[in-house]
Amino acid sequence: MCMRDAVVVTGGAGFIGSNFIHEWIKQTSYSVINLDLLTYAGNPANLSALDENPRYLLEVGDICDAERVASVLHTHQPRAIVHFAAESHVDRSIDSPESFIRTNVLGTQVLLEQAHRYWTELDAANKSVFRFLHVSTDEVYGSLGPDDPAFSESTAYAPNSPYAASKAASDHLARAYYHSYGLPVLTTNCSNNYGSFQFPEKLIPLMILNALEGKPLPVYGDGANVRDWLYVGDHCAAIRAVLEKGRVGDTYNIGGKSERRNIDVVHTICDLVDEMDSSVAIGSRRSLVTYVKDRPGHDRRYAIDAAKIERELGWRPAERFESGLRKTVRWYLDHPAWVESVRTGAYLDWIKKNYTERVTS
Ligand code: NAD
Ligand code: TYD
Repeated sequence: MCMRDAVVVTGGAGFIGSNFIHEWIKQTSYSVINLDLLTYAGNPANLSALDENPRYLLEVGDICDAERVASVLHTHQPRAIVHFAAESHVDRSIDSPESFIRTNVLGTQVLLEQAHRYWTELDAANKSVFRFLHVSTDEVYGSLGPDDPAFSESTAYAPNSPYAASKAASDHLARAYYHSYGLPVLTTNCSNNYGSFQFPEKLIPLMILNALEGKPLPVYGDGANVRDWLYVGDHCAAIRAVLEKGRVGDTYNIGGKSERRNIDVVHTICDLVDEMDSSVAIGSRRSLVTYVKDRPGHDRRYAIDAAKIERELGWRPAERFESGLRKTVRWYLDHPAWVESVRTGAYLDWIKKNYTERVTS
């Protein structure tokens, strides 16, 4: 693999990264090197369909390890880095913020620094095509009231959770490497994703699996918090568009035009699971909804104004929320072996820790 045909993806064994790699292999002729530490959230099984594919390679390694990052870049000579690797779960960040600062802040700085050193040594032609795409979240903008306008690229940062604060810091570092050193950085801030391969600590897969098994569906607070939902395949298409056509140094907001209250999302999941799995004598899954203690500092509403990426790059979401959710429920029902493989020690410990406290207090 050489400069002309490889990209390095960090965190490619996680939810969005693995979807991105599958799509990238299908939609482009380039190769992918996946630099991933394989934490609890990283699962090589997400990419087992590519095990024999000569265009895919897993490099197990930590983005905080400068020597390892430098070696991957020098060995594979990528034309781009797409940076997904992160600690990504808000509740875990409230429970133990340290690993979020380490990976999301320090790890991003190490990656930017090594990318800068690598880029500096490229010849002029390769230098001009190289891109560093930093994948971030809408949570950096904080919380909206019911009638506030959606987040745009010029909304002031106001992160409220340790996760959001660590991503905000990483966004600032990405910006600084562009302005201080000229590294060709692009940043994307995306709303909540859903789809295949999502680790079942997040709302949608957790609710699908609990509903399927007739377990309580733990809705935080009053269930009226609003998120904007984007099908993961649409996010991957947006990232490809930004890589290909985005203006260096710019940020792009990516959203699904699908604002929903959590309770409405959960009810829709209940109805889909009832429809697709009538064999279990559980009755209506809606009866499983259990309101539990709220998340501290729980952001009330997120909404994305994606006019810039639509106007400048011609991207818009292709999937409607209801059809995307139907596909997602179907995927979890059709992949019981994958579900079993991820619900192991670290997962079970987290579920016990997070939900026992919420239900009993
Ligand atoms: P995920 O938790 O499913 O996956 C994270 C991946 O990063 C895992 O494969 C993990 O092994 C890897 N990783 C963690 N620490 C690492 C380290 N130190 N070195 C190398 N690899 C490491 O996350 P996701 O949901 O796929 O999110 C991917 C990115 O997209 C994150 O940066 C996240 O902030 C951002 N994002 C996510 C969403 C969402 O709804 N999931 C929305 C917007 C933005
Ligand atoms: P989550 O999937 O953790 O994403 P984020 O916090 O990044 O938006 O949660 C989505 C919403 O669902 C959020 O408002 C919190 C809520 N939620 C629950 O009500 N119950 C749960 O068990 C989980 C995991 C989340």
